[in-house]
Amino acid sequence: MLGTERLSHLLCLPIWFCCALRCIDGLENGLAQTPPMGWMPFERFQCTVDCIHFPRDCISESLFKRTADLLVSEGYAAVGFQYLIIDDCWMERIRDTSTQKLLADRKRFPSGMSALSRYIHGRGLKFGIYHDVGQQTCMFRGPGARGHFELDAQTFADWGADYVKLDGCYATESERNRGYPAFGKAMNRTGRTMVYSCSWPFYTEKPDYRLIAKHCNLWRFAEDITDSYTSVFRIMELYRRNQELLLAHAGPGRWNDPDMLVLGNFRLSYDASRLQLAIWSVIAAPLIMTNDLETVRPEIKELLQNREVIAVNQDLLGMPGKCVRASKYFQVWVRPVTPVNDLGQHSFAVAFVNRGGFDACPLCPRNFEVVLERLGLDSPTGYYVVDLFNSSSNMGMFKPNDAFNTRINPEGVTFYKFTVAPLY
Ligand SMILES: *[C@@H]1O[C@H](CO)[C@@H](O)[C@H](O)[C@H]1NC(C)=O
Ligand SMILES: *[C@@H]1O[C@H](CO)[C@@H](O)[C@H](O)[C@H]1NC(C)=O
Repeated sequence: MLGTERLSHLLCLPIWFCCALRCIDGLENGLAQTPPMGWMPFERFQCTVDCIHFPRDCISESLFKRTADLLVSEGYAAVGFQYLIIDDCWMERIRDTSTQKLLADRKRFPSGMSALSRYIHGRGLKFGIYHDVGQQTCMFRGPGARGHFELDAQTFADWGADYVKLDGCYATESERNRGYPAFGKAMNRTGRTMVYSCSWPFYTEKPDYRLIAKHCNLWRFAEDITDSYTSVFRIMELYRRNQELLLAHAGPGRWNDPDMLVLGNFRLSYDASRLQLAIWSVIAAPLIMTNDLETVRPEIKELLQNREVIAVNQDLLGMPGKCVRASKYFQVWVRPVTPVNDLGQHSFAVAFVNRGGFDACPLCPRNFEVVLERLGLDSPTGYYVVDLFNSSSNMGMFKPNDAFNTRINPEGVTFYKFTVAPLY
């Protein structure tokens, strides 16, 4: 019987935490209870519209169909990457002159958006689309939503969209502050539930995250990511400097969005690829890839499909983590995760970062040692430790006053799950 009681505690505590988070008023469309996972072309394919010279790389229905097929056949869908999201540059430059509806580019999307949406749904995936709250889209390739919120929201619903990314270019601050909530309400009135991704805070000097979380499922707080360690680290630093504010408003249904996963492209080393994946999981970021799924190297594909790491990102407590130790050379990032023991003590995912930069050998692996208590891992029952990037590892039991040692590659990370032991 004791066993049953213990189990009920374990089940009940996470639910309690989720409820506590849900009490903060957020968008109530029931979606994005864990961070959305999927694919979006922008960083990799930008606004390539020349399909004559670059048929494989242009923003077109064939790119999205190919990617839909690969998400499924290469195993990405099975681990959770389900949203296939069209970014900017899908539109005709003007609206339909009689109905005022948005039009997909006729040459690049000859079958139309309904057909593409059906194709994506037919693969068991979800369909996302891009729009802008202002006068024009950011790449200046088509009309924004200004003056047409109801019509455009309805058009997306009619097309079977499951996710809308609303950018913030060519709009004034007050227009954005009115427009983001208003477009969300227009989406709600269609009766179709669609994840609402807002670029709102990025364009705002002092974002009101309480307000933003009330209207959006996710929000871009940082600049556009580029394919480099420098960019990944800069976004990590932006999060770190604002983390108390940022994580206070995130939870099931509402997430901070540090932009796409650039893994699988050209400039991230294997170690920096692990770094981005680990930190994006610690901070409960959406995992939206931007890459060519046909050419992702096997070892990067293996990282992207690491179920243990994804489980940290998708953890049901829905509590984003943060950086708890930072020096010139090292950082330690910690996220509370399930399971929770009888005393209400969490397990943790812990990422140790080697920033490099030492005077002697700036880009060498480095040893790092810390007493676990100093990271907030203070359960007297102790923790069972596994290396999240090595499924066959089992590092044994550690108590709060034990020192933990890890050796970290330069501009890289080690990433562990500390599973709290139950009470006996
Ligand atoms: C619209 O908003 C209401 C109130 O927040 C919510 O209960 C409902 O599920 C929403 N509907 C859609 C389609 O998002
Ligand atoms: C993974 O862990 C096992 C067991 O601890 C160990 O023998 C092996 O060397 C590790 N592999 C890597 C790549 O670190």
